[in-house]
Amino acid sequence: MSQTILITGATSGIGRDAALYLHSRGHTVIATGRNERALAELREAGLHALRLDVTDPASIDETRREVDAITDGYGLDALVNNAGYGLLGPLEMLSDADVRAQFETNVFGLLAVTRAFLPAMRGRGYGRIVNVSSVGGRIVFPLGGAYHATKYAVEAMSDALRMEVRQFGVEVAIIEPGYIDTGFTATTMGHLEKYVDDPSSPYADTLAMADGAAAKLARFAAKPRAVSKAIERAIVSRYPSARYVAPWINMFGPWIRYLMPERLVDWVLRKVAGLAGGQSPAHALAADA
Ligand SMILES: NC(=O)c1ccc[n+]([C@@H]2O[C@H](COP(=O)([O-])OP(=O)(O)OC[C@H]3O[C@@H](n4cnc5c(N)ncnc54)[C@H](OP(=O)(O)O)[C@@H]3O)[C@@H](O)[C@H]2O)c1
Repeated sequence: MSQTILITGATSGIGRDAALYLHSRGHTVIATGRNERALAELREAGLHALRLDVTDPASIDETRREVDAITDGYGLDALVNNAGYGLLGPLEMLSDADVRAQFETNVFGLLAVTRAFLPAMRGRGYGRIVNVSSVGGRIVFPLGGAYHATKYAVEAMSDALRMEVRQFGVEVAIIEPGYIDTGFTATTMGHLEKYVDDPSSPYADTLAMADGAAAKLARFAAKPRAVSKAIERAIVSRYPSARYVAPWINMFGPWIRYLMPERLVDWVLRKVAGLAGGQSPAHALAADA
């Protein structure tokens, strides 16, 4: 059945692909974002497209009014909270302002948009809230502490909300993408630049390798369509799952993480991130025994 769906951060990457895919599947899509040019392109493709900055309460209010106008006061069948970005860098060095901004978008923005559209869903006794988290909401890479903390927060809030609102006919699902080929890495590297440029940083050697590591990882990136399909399943399934890992192969990451001794996992991930020193895996295992 055709659904009315609002997507945040629909001006690029996963959000844009999901908007176009869901539109092609016959749903009424309200694509939102900050980039006017990208919004105009989506309008040309036949979608509704509205300006929405998820960190700006006035912008959220305005979007809710516009959605009411578009839907004759009905509201949304489904809200896809997708807007987000990754802040990378050693936790010791990241500025408070950068960490707070990361939470403002990925966590508080998601919560504010949810609160704007949930009451109408609750009142009607039907609705879907689909939160785009990450496999990084269940497994942590070094230098990703701030970003992972936001995705762990999204996972916890989604789990609680799912139990709180099912009584009102509203279902909450989490989407956990693996590494996807989008503008995500470019944005992340942009935020990292000012930390890489400080040669006096005790993490300078590690940060200097970040570009190379990102380029190596990019070879394994999947296309956004796998995530868009998971989003549709979460919206149209009669009994949606709590979590959709997309592409599915990425579900092995968290499993391995839970099955292996933590110090061994740490050692592997530190090696991958080029963090030198510390104990060998043999020492790590002996310490765990
Ligand atoms: N790509 C991956 O490997 C990956 C993996 C796991 C999870 N994810 C998650 O997937 C989601 C989408 O990311 P993506 O990979 O598609 O990256 P992307 O191509 O950079 O898209 C991110 C989108 O979020 C928007 N956005 C950022 N801050 C916003 C704000 N304050 N208000 C409204 N929109 C805002 C961006 O808009 P602007 O262009 O205006 O900044 C952009 O449209 C994110 O939540 C990300 O954490 C991505």
